[in-house]
Amino acid sequence: MLIHLKNVLTPEELRQARALLGDDAPWVDGRTSAGGQAVAQKANRQLAQESAQAANLQALVLAAVRRDPVFFSAALPRRIFNPLFNRYDPEAPRYGPHVDGAVLHSRATQEWVRTDISCTLFLADPAEYDGGELSVQDTFGSRRVKLPAGDAVLYPGTSVHEVTPVTRGARLASFFWIESMVRSDERRRLLFDLDMNLLKLRERHGETAEATALTGIYHNLLRQWAST
Ligand code: NI
Repeated sequence: MLIHLKNVLTPEELRQARALLGDDAPWVDGRTSAGGQAVAQKANRQLAQESAQAANLQALVLAAVRRDPVFFSAALPRRIFNPLFNRYDPEAPRYGPHVDGAVLHSRATQEWVRTDISCTLFLADPAEYDGGELSVQDTFGSRRVKLPAGDAVLYPGTSVHEVTPVTRGARLASFFWIESMVRSDERRRLLFDLDMNLLKLRERHGETAEATALTGIYHNLLRQWAST
């Protein structure tokens, strides 16, 4: 499933992020972080991971996703692979169809992270660049995503995906992976739908015996399926 998260960053955070990705940002060849299959498909730039800019941006992005209740409900995160940052422009325009590695070693925490969910957080507005769509192949076919700056998309780590060539301007984004407490995409979807509908039910009718009972069912399913 693809989930669109709106306004993950506040306008002030977005301004800070863009300042850190300004003219003196240390971009390196994106192929340094691609595995065997992906390297031939990759032509983009990535922010040097050891830079001060990357450290500040990582903290900013992690704080933003950690306070976002929809992110929590959709991802049920157990571990988050430290966020990375990339730039696509006409000189380094694309990342062709590829799959992400199933497990990645985090330099920041020295842990292995299973990539159940991929996240792209958009840092440039669609009007700033042409092309640069994230295309994700899921069970319903290919879905193309290009979101406002500050919004994010979650998609299954299992899917073949690509970034289509940027022909004008620059596409800036953060991308990272989440190991979920609930490994199955299907089960996460059921839990997310139940949780979001409970929220609406409470908005409409307040706390009722039925809402309480359904919340119990949500937590009992989560208890059966979650590994912590
Ligand atoms: Ni990828």
